[in-house]
Amino acid sequence: MTVMITGGAGFIGSHICVELIQAGRKVVIFDNFCNSHPEVINRIRRITGTAPDAVRGDVRDVQALISALSAHGCSSVIHLAGLKSVADSVSNPAEYYDCNVVGTLRLSQAMQQTGVRNIVFSSSATVYGEPDVLPLREDHKLAPFSPYGRTKMLAEELLGDMAHSQSPLNVAILRYFNPVGCHESGLIGEDPNGIPNNLMPHISRVAIGQLPVLNIYGNDYPTSDGTGIRDYVHVVDLAAGHIAALDCVDRQRVLKVNLGTGQGTSVLELVDAYTRASGKMIPITFAPRRLGDIASYYASAELAADVLGWHAKRGIAEMCRDAWNWQRKNPNGYLDQ
Ligand code: NAD
Ligand code: UD1
Repeated sequence: MTVMITGGAGFIGSHICVELIQAGRKVVIFDNFCNSHPEVINRIRRITGTAPDAVRGDVRDVQALISALSAHGCSSVIHLAGLKSVADSVSNPAEYYDCNVVGTLRLSQAMQQTGVRNIVFSSSATVYGEPDVLPLREDHKLAPFSPYGRTKMLAEELLGDMAHSQSPLNVAILRYFNPVGCHESGLIGEDPNGIPNNLMPHISRVAIGQLPVLNIYGNDYPTSDGTGIRDYVHVVDLAAGHIAALDCVDRQRVLKVNLGTGQGTSVLELVDAYTRASGKMIPITFAPRRLGDIASYYASAELAADVLGWHAKRGIAEMCRDAWNWQRKNPNGYLDQ
């Protein structure tokens, strides 16, 4: 039976496609390519030997979803399609609620109409907001501080209600911490438009010489070296977590689980690891704290181990090695065909 991957042409979705195909599963990508490049399909074929089926469509289009789910005989959906910039969500909240919340609603309706029961949803650790206690466990209160975070929280609640409806869905909600790195081939990876907001792609652009310097936002946080601490997780490990979730999604109605390593790494530690992995100098400068940033957060990875039997295998050195491999081989991202 086929797995539909909405947003499957994007950074995380493309890695999930590879892991699923290599596990012998059939996949169909459903994506409007608003933040991805069709070349990714060719790259997935080069890695796996199989080109995934792909449908160009928008997750707010119920009819297009119904046609694709039926035509491809889908039994499950991994729902990644969505918009993900915190800053853009502040300037344009309506677009974020429409794509992320209405998109999830329309997908749920299409699934109910076609009898497809199982859904694995991409949520984010951003739903927790400022941590009361670390590590962050799944029962921590939810208090997201951005429109983006609130769209993820609402989509979680919507799916929870669908799980208890007359035509119930089986729901696995995965709260990602900070996905980085890429497939070890260097054929697929993170390809942000313009100047990257997130740390790892920004470091990569400095290492390759496309950006002059890394601004480190804040060196006066109450952390070991004063810079922000995050739980970086290798995207190939993250992809494996989705397969584990697919395999147990029908065992309980709603599962909510963190995907993180349980280890915190500071900005300076990540820069240091990247310098070692790439052999490149990464010029840095300290800048004021970024609005809305939190000093430190990392996951409790216990539930993922207990329920999914999943834990991250790759460490910071591999994350930096693979991010650099992708950047070095594709200095212009997917435009380097
Ligand atoms: P991405 O932008 O690379 O991938 C998202 C994909 O969805 C893109 O291919 C885009 O074209 C597609 N898409 C967007 N809106 C769509 C729509 N209305 N209809 C159909 N396709 C649409 O992002 P990513 O980093 O791969 O993230 C995937 C998911 O994981 C997102 O939902 C994101 O919010 C979530 N997430 C990402 C991170 C992260 O750091 N990357 C962290 C936590 C959660
Ligand atoms: C950001 C989002 C979060 C989202 C996540 C996706 C904000 C406030 N939060 O999280 O909602 O789920 O991306 O991965 O945007 N940093 C620098 N210099 C840079 C970039 C980042 O010093 O050029 C620092 C940040 O201050 C932070 C750390 O690096 O301490 C990680 O930043 P980033 O990669 O943007 O991730 P988050 O802030 O965790």
